[in-house]
Amino acid sequence: MSNKPTIILDCDPGHDDALAIVVAARYANLLGITTVSGNAPIESTTYNALVMKDLLGLDVPVHKGAIRPLVAPPQYATYVHGESGLDGADLPAPTSTIDSEDAVGYIIDTVRANEGVWLVPTGPLTNIGLALRLAPDIGKRIAGISLMGGGLFGNRTTAAEFNIWVDPEAADIVFNYGGPLVMAGLHLTHQFRATQPRIDRVKALPGQLANVLGDLMQFFTDTYMRRHHGMDGGAVHDPCSVLCLTHPELFGKTAAHVVVELTGEHTRGMTLIDQRDLKEVREANCDVLMTIDAEPAFDLMIDAIAHFSH
Ligand code: RIB
Ligand code: CA
Repeated sequence: MSNKPTIILDCDPGHDDALAIVVAARYANLLGITTVSGNAPIESTTYNALVMKDLLGLDVPVHKGAIRPLVAPPQYATYVHGESGLDGADLPAPTSTIDSEDAVGYIIDTVRANEGVWLVPTGPLTNIGLALRLAPDIGKRIAGISLMGGGLFGNRTTAAEFNIWVDPEAADIVFNYGGPLVMAGLHLTHQFRATQPRIDRVKALPGQLANVLGDLMQFFTDTYMRRHHGMDGGAVHDPCSVLCLTHPELFGKTAAHVVVELTGEHTRGMTLIDQRDLKEVREANCDVLMTIDAEPAFDLMIDAIAHFSH
């Protein structure tokens, strides 16, 4: 009996989403991949997910999801990930095709048919919000939601992290769903960086996957170093939401009440994490990841790349 967590990865590849696919395939029981508009338009994030599926030789379905957020207009992060959403490497065209254009229906059906599924969204939460609205019963069936998003500071704005900022209404549904919720925010993911020595370790691995991922990580880190003053590498956000389930011993966390700001002129999309030690604070609705043991976590990611690269 595997003690691997069973997950559906909902993503917007995206350089760090691509690495989340690698660690999910290696260390979790990955039931399927669903895609969402975020780092790039849905057609691109879906194409990129298929590229990664074929590069890893995975036998998992890929279901295309929401074309845009619930309320807000679609927004992309081409300033980080490039026009394709996965710039910086010579990507082999996928031969796989999508299994459906109904990611939300796939999530609902799969949760209803399987016990103990974790939903792991690493992009805007549109698909997850829609699934919870269409089928509230899944909120009581899933093992939980482990998301990359939010944090004690922003990136797309001073206050808001990109995934939450793109679709705050969907995020509000998720943070209020009432079940187990784990949040890998920017204060956590910025501890997990693709430094040049780590990138060089990937580039030294044999095989096409390592070659492609080494180039993608180099592009990602070069972009981060160009845009930030004091970072020694790109923050590899999305794998944290997988590794905290597969290797929880590498993470420190705190339970807190978290709300999503929907109306603030300057703060829309902000996750307000209540860290006051007052007895009056509202009951915690989220396990907020606070620390990661980055060296062994990165070793795990490199080992996963090596496993699939040949
Ligand atoms: O803010 C970082 C998050 O936004 C990551 O998930 C990245 O892939 C983008 O989706
Ligand atoms: Ca992402």
